[in-house]
Amino acid sequence: MDRHTRSRMSSTPGYVHGYSAEEERRLSDQAGALAALLHQDTWFPPGSLVLEAGCGTGAQTALVTAASPGARLISVDRSAPSLRAARARALGGELLCGDINTLPFRDGSFDHIFVCFVLEHLSDPPGALVHLRRLLRPGGTCTVIEGDHGSCYYHPETPEAAHAWWALVRAQAAVGGDALVGRRLYPLLAGAGFEEVTVSPRMVYADESRPGVQDGFVQRTIVPMVEGARERAVRLGLVDPDAFDRGVADLRRTGGPGGTFCYTFFRATGVNPG
Ligand SMILES: C[S@@+](CC[C@H](N)C(=O)[O-])C[C@H]1O[C@@H](n2cnc3c(N)ncnc32)[C@H](O)[C@@H]1O
Repeated sequence: MDRHTRSRMSSTPGYVHGYSAEEERRLSDQAGALAALLHQDTWFPPGSLVLEAGCGTGAQTALVTAASPGARLISVDRSAPSLRAARARALGGELLCGDINTLPFRDGSFDHIFVCFVLEHLSDPPGALVHLRRLLRPGGTCTVIEGDHGSCYYHPETPEAAHAWWALVRAQAAVGGDALVGRRLYPLLAGAGFEEVTVSPRMVYADESRPGVQDGFVQRTIVPMVEGARERAVRLGLVDPDAFDRGVADLRRTGGPGGTFCYTFFRATGVNPG
């Protein structure tokens, strides 16, 4: 079975990346490649109860658990197969199936909430954040990490590479998501009622003097992410398959000899005033 057929079998309406084995590997590679950049300041105190909303296969859960040994983590996702993969990692915390918008916890149950690469997939991020804020005790914090595909530039930039990249953005929008959500984190958290909102942009840059970043971020995170949107983008009539494949091949060159790639993530925190 080829990569495109596997991706087609595992694509799920409403979620642009799908739940394939390739995507599970990509999430793990992504978490590893970006751990220091995104999580150097992500830890929760001993004794605190932390909700991870949208844990997927547990790629970030592993990092949070390692950085916060005394905290108790409850991780939730709506995908049963992803939770099975997360359970196989034996991460230690609790893993529950549920929808971020309607979680069955009492108001004020959690000390902290952690959300990573999830708002971009929601049709109503403001509604989800309001719901999550209610689950926090007064003074509890919410940490949100998201990308922004509009923050990206690379070399060489061919028309085909740009076409494939923006096809991913449009395919995500077509299923109700927003791949440009990173730039909205401040207004989203403030609008949901959080106070003391701060946003920290985190830039990742790769050239051939940084082979680890080229491999971990460009080749194993970015390129597979775009490839994973192929079937949906083609089905939606957003791209010609051959042009898309040429674009992906060009994107791959940005993570090799002579290539460069730059992208900014956004890490936001806010406090629940109660
Ligand atoms: C890109 S993955 C990120 C997973 C994990 N946070 C990570 O960074 O590896 C997004 C996850 O959000 C989950 N998700 C999307 N919408 C959801 C919802 N309404 N309720 C619960 N989970 C949701 C998906 O099932 C998927 O596992």
